[in-house]
Amino acid sequence: MKQPSERSRRRASGAITGNSQPQLLLDKLGERLAFERSGVQFYDALIAKFEASQDSSTSMTLADLQKIRQDEARHADMLAAAIAGAGAEPGAQTPSAQLVGIESQGLKQVLDDPDSTIAQSLHALLVAEMTDNAGWELLIALAEDHGQMALISEFSVALDEERAHLMQVQNWYEEATIGKAVSDGALIDDVSDMNPSSSLH
Ligand SMILES: [Fe+2]
Repeated sequence: MKQPSERSRRRASGAITGNSQPQLLLDKLGERLAFERSGVQFYDALIAKFEASQDSSTSMTLADLQKIRQDEARHADMLAAAIAGAGAEPGAQTPSAQLVGIESQGLKQVLDDPDSTIAQSLHALLVAEMTDNAGWELLIALAEDHGQMALISEFSVALDEERAHLMQVQNWYEEATIGKAVSDGALIDDVSDMNPSSSLH
């Protein structure tokens, strides 16, 4: 009779400590929590700048920004609960949390600068949202490795929301920069469609 694999046994028990690298999941949960908390601050800064500038170069609305800010705050709460549920301290500065804390400082500096434009601020947010997407994908894979099925379900909802954030921010950045959104692939849907003479050498 086939014996259940180690991964199956871990899934059945639901214990984070069942993995050979339990600290890795906690480290990455801490990283995501730190970055989502920074995300709330990023959107607070853009909301203030957007309200002050009355910028109309994009299709972005105050309601859009407030919705994304709410998502980031909810994601942070979800992560804090997951860390506490694993018996760890949600505010702990894990190595990866420290790393993204340093990285976030540059983005926040751009967003807090009264002289940065909406387009420049959106570029900083594009960096943040791309990182958000990659971060949640990694976290879901790690949760799967650790048999944390309940977390996978919650984190998948967060990833869907982050994908929507990325699409919106990318479109707004393009609108603010070149006057139209091109990232839906309508203009360049395949690398082979690009004019080779236009590529850099
Ligand atoms: Fe996001």
